[in-house]
Amino acid sequence: MKLDAKPIKEYSTEVIKNFYSKGEIYKDYTNKHSFRSGEQFVYNNFFIKKGSLLDVGCGGGRTTFLIHQNFNKIIGIDINETLIKSAYETKQNEKIPIDFFVGDAVNLSFCNNYFDSVLFSYNGIEGILFQSDRFKCLNEIYKVLKKNGIFIFSTHSLFSWTYVSFHIKKLINLFTKMIPLLPNLYKEFDHLKLGDIFVKNAGFKMAWHITNPIMMIIYLKKAGFKLIYINNCERISRGLIKSSCFSIFGTQSVFYVTQKTDK
Ligand SMILES: C[S@@+](CC[C@H](N)C(=O)[O-])C[C@H]1O[C@@H](n2cnc3c(N)ncnc32)[C@H](O)[C@@H]1O
Repeated sequence: MKLDAKPIKEYSTEVIKNFYSKGEIYKDYTNKHSFRSGEQFVYNNFFIKKGSLLDVGCGGGRTTFLIHQNFNKIIGIDINETLIKSAYETKQNEKIPIDFFVGDAVNLSFCNNYFDSVLFSYNGIEGILFQSDRFKCLNEIYKVLKKNGIFIFSTHSLFSWTYVSFHIKKLINLFTKMIPLLPNLYKEFDHLKLGDIFVKNAGFKMAWHITNPIMMIIYLKKAGFKLIYINNCERISRGLIKSSCFSIFGTQSVFYVTQKTDK
């Protein structure tokens, strides 16, 4: 099937910039600097302490400010200029030694083998709508990490019941397109892949990609990462801290802790 990329592009980078720059979401990512469920446990246990860290998709610097003391050097980048401005102002006001830059996770402009650790927190990688770009992002992170460096990120899980109604709508959309004369229900889903959903903020509608954890594990391996830990925040907060096959069924964040290996 030939995919016309144009409609989904409209929900892509430009929209992400607007989506996070307004309303409750903007306030959420700039004002409240506290850990989300499971984050503290994962970051404390798996990052390389006192090394260098790149916080990709750092937003207003929530995670960057929370963990900066564990690293000798820390840089935060985000594609959203408004959020980076806010992070920069906070850093200036509080005199915290962090560098913030506007940057795209799909095209990282750092030297190869530069960072000990990379973070893409709070499911941010799912804002990258095309699979090819998400894979490019993994390759870019691989490049800038040192040998044996640690990359931690989280995603939602396609296997969560939360998204069932979207999957059903997408399946109805596929079905009605296959049978001539049937009305094309959910036409807006025409260009979305299974796992893509819509989210709204302050009048903006944005597409978002919910991850199939099994596919993600396959892509990580292809990109040269070894998965050393996987768990979801509900299990961690219940004290179930070991990786398990149930880890991929979380309704909020599934954490992936990976290590750069030789390809
Ligand atoms: C869910 S927010 C999380 C923000 C921050 N990490 C936090 O946890 O508070 C996702 C962030 O990823 C950023 N983002 C999405 N796509 C990006 C890309 N291609 N390059 C850099 N940042 C991106 C968004 O602008 C947004 O700030």
